[in-house]
Amino acid sequence: MKPIILLFCCFLLRLLEIPISNATPNNEESTTTTTNSSIVFQSIDRLDYFFDIFSHPISWINQPPSNAQEIKITDGQWVNYNGHFPSPSSSSSLLSLLHNQTVDRPDPPPLQLIYVSERNGVSNIYYDEVYYDQTGCPRSNIRKRSAFETSVRVQIPLLDLKENTQSRISMKDRPSLAGDYLVYVSTHEDSGIARTSTAAVYSTELKSGLTRRLTPYGIADFSPSVSPSGKWTAVASYGARGWDGEAAELSTDIYVFSTRDGTGRVKVVEHGGWPCWGDETTLYFHRKGEDEWWSIYRAILPTHGPISIESVLIERVTPPGLHAFTPSTSPGNNNFIAVATRRPTTKFRHIELFDLETNEFKELTRLISPETHHFNPFLSPDSTRVGYHKCRWGVRGRESPKLLLQNLPTTPDSDFSLFRFDGEFPSFSPTGDRIAYVSYDAVYVVDVDARNHRQVYGGPAFFTVWDPVRKGIVYTSAGLHFAAEGTEVDIISINVDDDDDETRIKKLTTNSKNNAFPSPSPDGRWIVFRSGLSGYKDLYIMSAEDGEKGGLRRLTDGPWLDTMPNWSPDGEWIVFASDRENPGVANFELYLIHPNGTGLRKLMQSGSGGKANHPWFSPDGKRVVFSSDYKGISAEPISNPNQNLPYGEIFTINLDGSDIRRLTHNVNEDGAATWVPKHIKAVDVEWLEDRPGCDFLDVYFLDDMPSHGVGAKAKVVNVPNKARCAHFSRSN
Ligand SMILES: *[C@@H]1O[C@H](CO)[C@@H](O)[C@H](O)[C@H]1NC(C)=O
Ligand SMILES: *[C@@H]1O[C@H](CO)[C@@H](O)[C@H](O)[C@H]1NC(C)=O
Ligand SMILES: *[C@@H]1O[C@H](CO)[C@@H](O)[C@H](O)[C@H]1NC(C)=O
Repeated sequence: MKPIILLFCCFLLRLLEIPISNATPNNEESTTTTTNSSIVFQSIDRLDYFFDIFSHPISWINQPPSNAQEIKITDGQWVNYNGHFPSPSSSSSLLSLLHNQTVDRPDPPPLQLIYVSERNGVSNIYYDEVYYDQTGCPRSNIRKRSAFETSVRVQIPLLDLKENTQSRISMKDRPSLAGDYLVYVSTHEDSGIARTSTAAVYSTELKSGLTRRLTPYGIADFSPSVSPSGKWTAVASYGARGWDGEAAELSTDIYVFSTRDGTGRVKVVEHGGWPCWGDETTLYFHRKGEDEWWSIYRAILPTHGPISIESVLIERVTPPGLHAFTPSTSPGNNNFIAVATRRPTTKFRHIELFDLETNEFKELTRLISPETHHFNPFLSPDSTRVGYHKCRWGVRGRESPKLLLQNLPTTPDSDFSLFRFDGEFPSFSPTGDRIAYVSYDAVYVVDVDARNHRQVYGGPAFFTVWDPVRKGIVYTSAGLHFAAEGTEVDIISINVDDDDDETRIKKLTTNSKNNAFPSPSPDGRWIVFRSGLSGYKDLYIMSAEDGEKGGLRRLTDGPWLDTMPNWSPDGEWIVFASDRENPGVANFELYLIHPNGTGLRKLMQSGSGGKANHPWFSPDGKRVVFSSDYKGISAEPISNPNQNLPYGEIFTINLDGSDIRRLTHNVNEDGAATWVPKHIKAVDVEWLEDRPGCDFLDVYFLDDMPSHGVGAKAKVVNVPNKARCAHFSRSN
């Protein structure tokens, strides 16, 4: 199904001068660049889900929630999340442009939504209007009586990303509409400072497209919220303090500044995130309290005089006994807020209302879809609806197919195409037509067009690499990931074209210690790998064909961890990751060394205490691709599905240490990139088989249920199961 972008959009686009064409695939553009190689990386779970934004009416306060009342607002295309219902005053300017004022407003009025959508790997902010019939069902199924009614959905991307390439490949987040201004997070401006997030708040005037940065340079802001009057914006931020490397609970503070120009910036709350305004002087936010429960708190700002931390009164709102986070308010509503929760009784995240008068939770989504995670609630301005996003599953051959390779945009001067791969440790055969990878404790091979998918090794393994000379030979480390030096992990070779189970696998190491991350020399004669042989994980070289039996040479030696070596295409260098400057603290820098053990030098350091890992040479040997926390985190991790290392992004660097370039912008753990010597056409590749979907976890740190604190009592209501709007497309 094509997105329904009908009727008003062309008229509107002329008025707003917002080109809709940036919603088209980036494929055409990529062909104009001289790509002669490709970079492919893994993203934990990222290709396992699509999101859509759903909404449920709040009249169920006296009436239980039901499937029949839940509606899907977004269009079932790509990943749609972090919605916002614009207020009547702020959306009226959009509406007046959309509709001829002399024509009566549609009745009932459309549902209006602002949200983030990642389409073809490009993140943008969209505005949708969806029209409903009198029963509250979307109009798609209704006989069309006039041209007006054919428009069941008006959809426009709100930012013109064509103009600014950097903006096109950056992340967008947490949009809201304040009058004519769209306020949101973007990561497109790089401060050049190591381990400094580029997430910052911007405002774009929709009529002119003029964009203004509201966050001071050198500072990162997350989770903006605009006050009911539009005058103030609150954000979560480290301020000038900077990031300390934490990725479970961010120790952000809450700042407030003028939405108009970012002036008057003042810290109002120490330790808090995800602010939202109850009224002009009341902020709700979440924090992990001293009793270790995530809870909602309220900050009351002084109505007169200067604001400072001392002048702000803070009260806890939600009780211990469950985690409550990502609050949402609607202006003028002092009766209840919406929150996401994790209760000790479920591993799923749900949306609940919290009654501010009775201090009672009222469960919503658990009563409808108990085994689905629901994220980041938002209330309509009149408090009659709550919105949230959750996973939608695409069916093969229909919209949102499950992808093996997702093409991502690159800058015009890039000589590679860029892909996210649905599996761990992808590597490509020398001819570039086959991929080896690891998934769920087995090694697989699949053609680059998704054909011939098959398991070639069963058993725990991590990392894959192809022999550059001998056809069909893949090396891997067979054993458990992250195991100690003395745990047996072996380098094995797999002849993927050999169907004989007896001869296909060859064990190359014999020392019974932890041997991993093999990388063959370009002539296919040697393998460099890391081994825990001496009690420390250092680098060794052995024969690729005879293995350790053919002789073992130690390349590095020290009481630290040298790992993930990669041999350069000209054979002159080995690049690897090491914590030698700070052993045991999980700080990793990249180093270069000649295979004969001379020439050791540092290539890359991700600031102080940082991580740079999984280096891989470009085919011309002049650059290295790697993963790093060099750009910090881009959003509050609690607002997203689980990512152990949400700061993981893909970068390239020149061999002389210059020109660090960031390739990915998102909230996922991106890593284990491989630089393929062949150009892979810049288009998505779908799996040819059905794959499980929506298979991801809630953030691991919410699994901690502290013993102290009284269990909160939730009001449980029965769920009637009548399907009133049976034609709704709904998939979990
Ligand atoms: C708006 O309404 C006026 C008056 O009815 C009409 O002349 C005009 O064509 C309409 N414009 C559009 C774009 O529909
Ligand atoms: C080590 O290898 C490098 C690169 O191949 C070479 O330039 C250097 O001369 C070698 N040094 C020794 C001592 O063999
Ligand atoms: C791509 O080819 C050009 C021209 O031959 C070369 O300069 C460039 O280094 C190559 N890029 C890579 C990544 O190998």
